[in-house]
Amino acid sequence: MQNAIRLGIIGLGTVGTGVARILQHGADQVAARAGGPLEIARVVVNDPTKKREVDIDPAVLGTDALEVIRDPDIPIIVELVGCPGGSVEPARTWLLEALRSGKHVVTANKDVVAKHGTELLRTAGEHGGSLYFEAAVAGGIPIIKAISEALVGNRIDMLMGIINGTTNYMLTKMTQEGAAFGDVLREAQARGYAEADPSSDVEGHDAAYKIAILASLAFETEIAVDAVYREGITRITPEDIRNAAELGYVVKLLAIAKRNGEHVEVRVHPTFIPQSHPLAAVNDAFNAVFVHGDAVGELMFYGRGAGMMPTASAVVADIVDAAHNLRRGVRGRHRINGRRTPILPISQSISRYYINTKVVDRPGVLAAITTAFGDNGVSLESVIQKGRGQDPVSLVFVTHEVQEANLTRALARIAQLAEVREVSNVVRVEGETHGRDY
Ligand SMILES: NC(=O)c1ccc[n+]([C@@H]2O[C@H](COP(=O)([O-])OP(=O)(O)OC[C@H]3O[C@@H](n4cnc5c(N)ncnc54)[C@H](OP(=O)(O)O)[C@@H]3O)[C@@H](O)[C@H]2O)c1
Repeated sequence: MQNAIRLGIIGLGTVGTGVARILQHGADQVAARAGGPLEIARVVVNDPTKKREVDIDPAVLGTDALEVIRDPDIPIIVELVGCPGGSVEPARTWLLEALRSGKHVVTANKDVVAKHGTELLRTAGEHGGSLYFEAAVAGGIPIIKAISEALVGNRIDMLMGIINGTTNYMLTKMTQEGAAFGDVLREAQARGYAEADPSSDVEGHDAAYKIAILASLAFETEIAVDAVYREGITRITPEDIRNAAELGYVVKLLAIAKRNGEHVEVRVHPTFIPQSHPLAAVNDAFNAVFVHGDAVGELMFYGRGAGMMPTASAVVADIVDAAHNLRRGVRGRHRINGRRTPILPISQSISRYYINTKVVDRPGVLAAITTAFGDNGVSLESVIQKGRGQDPVSLVFVTHEVQEANLTRALARIAQLAEVREVSNVVRVEGETHGRDY
């Protein structure tokens, strides 16, 4: 019988508990797949007196992460603390310290990987260790492995994902029940789906971190989180959702990464997608990532993007990989190549748009607006007037593909027309671009 590989697990909260359960209950299966047994040698928590939902020998519990990281008999460190208080420290320092000792390091921490992935991977490369982070994006969906292993024979052109479960739950409720954003947010908070401060989810920050990681891997370049264009869902109204349905679309918060010539586009925003698109059927807190590779064509990965056991499933897969690689003396696959592909400014991106305007119901108003669109190179696919004789009425437009800068110029002129009360919302329309039915 081979010696067990000793694991140091830092964090025994939601995900850590799930990981410990799989490692305990599935020990034989995990050992067979890892090429030998694994042992939870040390577990680091904040409060060792807390009652745990999993059986852990009190003798292995402690509070000093650095002591565990520096233990030469622990070759695999699993970081499951995250960023309490919003700071990447101390997690970043722990991961760097472990990688400097040449260890294999598993983390579920999207913030640290998105912000410091290059530094961590470079350190792993310099010291012979490896970094694994499957659980950092889309929880239980094995999208990191898919991109970096299963799809290596492809040039990936496009990734489009629903990678924030909270906002997908909220938009699903708004769509199915006609409810308003504020009411759905309160319900999501009461059910524990949304944080007391929901901005990370509803403003699109969480999805931006995740798409920065996915785009960096898919396009083999470094995408800084700050370079991701981001809009949240707070401006989406029940009226927009009804209009979307009438036009044949569903509203989703999409994270999108596309190659565009020498540039890449990386953006997070609410999006109208056709009701027939596979992502349109992804409801509630589920996640999905739609990928296009030049050889494989279209793929969609669907599943639970969070939760104890789905996330633990991804972490354990990384632990098994790490143990397997360690026994064979090989390293994990994630590497950096130092490339920095320029990001396309959002003003140069090309999309279709839904535009909702509130106007005075007077002859000539439609002509004035369509002239402003036409003068700026914006051509229209459809126009709907909602209400008659009311003040104001809604004029809803869907454009053909247009560069955003042109649309912005047109909207600035439209907003100044005397008959136009407001341009109440503008939402990108995706899913049928460049003649390919993405
Ligand atoms: N929850 C999910 O569904 C999910 C999904 C995908 C990714 N993730 C990621 O997984 C990671 C863990 O998330 P989680 O939901 O499991 O978090 P959690 O439930 O809040 O657990 C955090 C754990 O870290 C421990 N801890 C906190 N500060 C510490 C410190 N200074 N030193 C040592 N231990 C400390 C806590 O100890 P005590 O137990 O003593 O308080 C707790 O065991 C995060 O990076 C998160 O983003 C989570």
